[in-house]
Amino acid sequence: MRLRIRPGSAVGGHARVPGDKSIAHRWLILASTARGRSRLAGMPGGLDVRSTAACMAVLAPKPRPALETWLHLHRDRGADERQGRGFTWNLNAGENPPDASTLDLVLEGDGRNALVEPPKRLDCENSGTTLRLLTGLLAPAPFTSLLAGDASLNARPMERIAEPLRAMGAVIDTTDGHPPVRVDPVGELHGITWEDGTPSAQVKSAILLAGTAASGSTTVVEPVTTRDHTERALQALGGPVRIEGRSVTVEAFQHQGFSGTVPGDPSSAAFLVAAAALTGAELHIEGVGLNPTRTRFLAVMERMGIPLTTELDGEEVGEPVGAIHVGRAGALRATTVDVDELPLVIDEVPVLAAVAAHADGVTRFRGAGELKVKESDRLSAVVEGLRGLGGDAEVEDEDLAVTGGGLPGGNAGSGGDHRIGMAFVVAALAASGTSEVEGIEHTEVSFPGFAPALGALGADLEEA
Ligand code: S3P
Repeated sequence: MRLRIRPGSAVGGHARVPGDKSIAHRWLILASTARGRSRLAGMPGGLDVRSTAACMAVLAPKPRPALETWLHLHRDRGADERQGRGFTWNLNAGENPPDASTLDLVLEGDGRNALVEPPKRLDCENSGTTLRLLTGLLAPAPFTSLLAGDASLNARPMERIAEPLRAMGAVIDTTDGHPPVRVDPVGELHGITWEDGTPSAQVKSAILLAGTAASGSTTVVEPVTTRDHTERALQALGGPVRIEGRSVTVEAFQHQGFSGTVPGDPSSAAFLVAAAALTGAELHIEGVGLNPTRTRFLAVMERMGIPLTTELDGEEVGEPVGAIHVGRAGALRATTVDVDELPLVIDEVPVLAAVAAHADGVTRFRGAGELKVKESDRLSAVVEGLRGLGGDAEVEDEDLAVTGGGLPGGNAGSGGDHRIGMAFVVAALAASGTSEVEGIEHTEVSFPGFAPALGALGADLEEA
């Protein structure tokens, strides 16, 4: 799908965003392996989360019927969501927020030991989080599992999870370092202390999930802080979790069922915040996750001159939730995101690059090499798309440099990557001419109804 974006609109008002994808994967895995009943509200129906739900439906017989019903409902709702109907954003016209509980997912779990051998390859589709977290979950299982995905996922590195899991005693084979990943049964895994490798919440989470079924203590010491949803959830469920600085330790633990509402995804909110700032509008987003390992993009945007405030309203399963308010932004200035800050904005680099294209000066993202192995090579994709919109950016080794000064408008494509497509739509809102962005259907991966959401907030866009 190709979107035509005309500049000159103000994108503001009140909004909500779909539930947090990272949290949703973890809660789905935990609820499906809990003992007893879990009630999950606000579970987002984006494609990645559906991949995890579909895999858990194969692996966990007792919650299977509820997971299958939920998947079915979302498949049916897909068309509505694409039209922007029935979703949790769009409060502009004075509508009441839809009741997230209408799609509560109620799962009866039988514990982790009730998981069964998947009869065929688990299809994780486009979702790296699904594949990496499930490999950790399945590493201690007494059966064989084979995990793979689509062409993009099958090109992504998996030795980073296989190595630490092997150190715990797991038998794991990758295919030249990539999926398909084969996990064979072992006796018991044993705890380790893991301090090596790429800073990655997915790697940390795979190790911690394996650690909750291993003997002894399992510790991950991160070189740089990454998102901490897994340890927060385990801790909120009463697990033996110790967090000291950048070190997390878990021990064997079987959790019980739990209830919670998935907070709105701050990484999706980032696109709306950027859209408001670039069009000089005020915007209030409610019910968003405010976990500090996810909201660093707000600090970066503040440095660029966007007035932002947050308000904490409460907590859901250990996750802070609240509102983000975007004030009217004036002229924007360039900034530098350093190597220590980069993992905290790992998913927001494309949208920050879109803002940077309109700022005064050159914005640098240092040590951003990890973006080359995301859903696409996001560094090259950002360069290509911003050039297509008439701007300039460069990859210098592991760094991305975006030249500001505004965009005349032009053509860009998502390259099959949800966040890349959304970043260029946002960049185009503030261009001086009309632009077209191709491949908008991929936004379904994390933000179903993205284009209608922007439209409802005032953006001037249409299917081209
Ligand atoms: C995620 C972690 C990040 C992020 C991805 C989701 C998660 O990946 O890019 O979109 O849910 O744990 P890495 O931790 O591998 O950088």
